[in-house]
Amino acid sequence: MCGIVGIASTKSVTSMIVNSLRKLEYRGYDSSGIATLHNGNINEVKCEGRVDVLEKNLNKSNLLGNVGIGHVRWATHGIPSTLNAHPHSSENVSVVHNGIIENSTLLKKLLIKKGHTFKSQTDTEVITHLITEYLKKNDLKNSIIKMLRRLHGSFALGIIFKDQPDLIVGARRGSPLAVGYGPNENYLGSDSYALKSMTNKISYLNDGEFCIVKNDNIDFFDETGNKVNKKILELSSNEKNYDKGEYKHFMAKEIDEQPVTIKNCINEYIDKKNNDINIFNFPWESKDISSIVLIGCGTAYHSCLMAKYWFEQLTKFDVSVDIASEFRYRKNRFKDNALYIFVSQSGETADTYGALDLCNKNDMKTCSIVNVVESSIARDSKFVLPIHCGPEIGVASTKAFTGQMLVLYLLCLKLGKDRKDIANDIFSKKIISLKSLSDLIKNTLSTENDIQLVCNSFVEAKGSMFLGRGCSFPIALEGALKLKELAYVHAEGYPAGEMKHGPLALIEEGMPVVVLAPRDDYYKKTISNMQEVIARGAKVLLITNKSKDEVYSENIWQTIEVENTSEDLLPFLITIPLQKLAYYSALKKGYDIDKPRNLAKSVTVE
Ligand code: AGP
Repeated sequence: MCGIVGIASTKSVTSMIVNSLRKLEYRGYDSSGIATLHNGNINEVKCEGRVDVLEKNLNKSNLLGNVGIGHVRWATHGIPSTLNAHPHSSENVSVVHNGIIENSTLLKKLLIKKGHTFKSQTDTEVITHLITEYLKKNDLKNSIIKMLRRLHGSFALGIIFKDQPDLIVGARRGSPLAVGYGPNENYLGSDSYALKSMTNKISYLNDGEFCIVKNDNIDFFDETGNKVNKKILELSSNEKNYDKGEYKHFMAKEIDEQPVTIKNCINEYIDKKNNDINIFNFPWESKDISSIVLIGCGTAYHSCLMAKYWFEQLTKFDVSVDIASEFRYRKNRFKDNALYIFVSQSGETADTYGALDLCNKNDMKTCSIVNVVESSIARDSKFVLPIHCGPEIGVASTKAFTGQMLVLYLLCLKLGKDRKDIANDIFSKKIISLKSLSDLIKNTLSTENDIQLVCNSFVEAKGSMFLGRGCSFPIALEGALKLKELAYVHAEGYPAGEMKHGPLALIEEGMPVVVLAPRDDYYKKTISNMQEVIARGAKVLLITNKSKDEVYSENIWQTIEVENTSEDLLPFLITIPLQKLAYYSALKKGYDIDKPRNLAKSVTVE
């Protein structure tokens, strides 16, 4: 997963490319580079490291040119280094690539036999040599068509040519690619966000398509070279959402935005007057759906797991949950009358997209829950439910997680009511309690003072555990994931009842263990499991909700109480202190919170 950008203009493009690359850093930030066309030559500057380093190098080299491409890398083939940084250029061609070329080893062997010399360890360099080879006997368009036919895998490409001083070729299979229209210039970008400061007029390439971008024109073609017409979409622009404001990090801002994002989402879906849920134009009757399959990766997978508990508690649907990268390669995946729900913040996650594509090809009912409504997953699902939480920039997903859970909960209520699994009076009560969720989250954010006091123990520990039962189990997984990805502390999420079947052996004197025990049906059992870990020396941070009944247990290290609400909504509240715990632990360690090591926001490779 990398970010690519291309600009064909009537003026110098280097600084515009740098600005766009900064916006794409969420996709990768271990190396970066730019190539431009100037006076009949391809010139490039690239380096290991972030766009800031690239900018310093550019200041020294003064890269001129009105046509250029840029790249931020998240290494797949070959270590992060200047040599492996994109663009990859021959004398005639320069290429930026997002994705993986699966047959690169074979192609490389064939090209070496033809006399090509490779400089990098990347899969991308085969593209450069392949086009160079085809250009010897073909025109530009046919060289592109032939080159694309030889590639296996997923890719989005930006290519410039020494002998074509006014154009960039863009191509897409699997990985996303947007095209932007500006005054006297046009653009290519991995997403519309990269192009946002230059234009809000966007088209998207579909799988297999390629385009030729000039400063005054863009032509689109299908894989056989036939021209394709494209719709131009006008995106709304709200630059404020892309700004950290007074916050030090996007993550801190995004955690604190949750009362507002939850309120916005509730306003979008809840008909407050009639205490109903508005999901318009849902293409299937609930009676035609007998089972639900929830699919996602990482945090989105955790929100799917959470939804399984709600669907099972409140409806009679048969529910299963799958990790997208597993689902797409398993046999016997398809169930008649199943609704397949794909959850993804970015809407671009390669594995989730692959699973969706497979379901579409098998004529299944597909619905997605996304944040980015222009994304590939949203565009290719038969029905879309947006989470309305605004751009999430921090690599760690926070407000998108609570947004995904909320939309899944609303869908569960709506389908359950339609099927009469949920009685009208119970449904109305649930809607009423949803109306206070935003305020309850707001109050729960104040637990951050207590969290700051405990995070030292997590930062210094060699490992930690997060335990919960029932609805708190997916939240335990999510809490552990947040701590791992941000503070680089080993953390395991576990069902509390499962500890004695093995993981209890890990508990030793002073090990920090988070126990999630809201006062729900599982409360007493979880408290018993908590006592088992305390008895073995664990330092327990108990997260529960306010209640008139005291917690009956001795030797709890610290307790954090979230607000009180209905059982269904407690998972939202116990999530908040866990997000803060990961944030403050990473802050204490001085890590790069919005861009943790080895990760990227949008995982567009398998
Ligand atoms: C969460 O903090 C992660 N960085 C990651 O697990 C993420 O949720 C996952 O990659 C899925 O992304 P998506 O929601 O954009 O599909």
